[in-house]
Amino acid sequence: MCADFLDKVYKAEYKDPRDLYRDWADTYDNELAQNEYTTPIRTAKALTKFVSNKSTSILDFGCGTGLSAEALISCGFSTIDGIDISNEMIEIAREKRIYRNLECFNPNKSIPVKKNEYSIITAIGVISVGAAPISIFDEVFDLLPKDGLFAFSFNEHSLMVPEYSLKVEQTVNEKKAVQLFCELGPHILKRDLKSMVYVIKKL
Ligand SMILES: C[S@@+](CC[C@H](N)C(=O)[O-])C[C@H]1O[C@@H](n2cnc3c(N)ncnc32)[C@H](O)[C@@H]1O
Repeated sequence: MCADFLDKVYKAEYKDPRDLYRDWADTYDNELAQNEYTTPIRTAKALTKFVSNKSTSILDFGCGTGLSAEALISCGFSTIDGIDISNEMIEIAREKRIYRNLECFNPNKSIPVKKNEYSIITAIGVISVGAAPISIFDEVFDLLPKDGLFAFSFNEHSLMVPEYSLKVEQTVNEKKAVQLFCELGPHILKRDLKSMVYVIKKL
């Protein structure tokens, strides 16, 4: 099953991401391990630069099968809740017993999280062509309190669509946030794909 879904994910073969991730869930971890998915560890390491208390609760938005939490845990973070729109991805994450809480939600309804509930939110490999639309950015960012941190990534395919990086620029230019970290680096090493990892702080 090598690189099967990685060939499909950016081609919009699936209209609803829930169908894509339903079909991908069982082989997702293997395929990403074989292809050396490095964005989660890059994002987790970036976050360590700005967080002193690593037991602070983190919302892992679009947690998938938990590869993002595994990276966060390997960097010392200990309290992670995950939400995602795919039951099948969440079920794999649940088996790993690494999240405090996990919840599946309907993308056509509002995000089931109270404003100010988390001072750190991650969205690793989530806001992307083939996953959550860029319109979700403001909804997720709005959940943070003042001084809250948002650590997220945009892959190369998304960076080619101007709306993605413009959204970050606009958020910073409008003084809604300050950009603490922004680094282009390897996303999926064996596919030679890159991603931009960002950490921004809400003002
Ligand atoms: C490429 S996976 C990344 C999963 C995990 N964060 C990781 O790094 O492995 C993208 C995830 O985003 C989820 N997703 C897609 N659209 C979403 C949306 N609108 N809101 C939240 N999650 C979404 C998918 O179900 C999938 O689990």
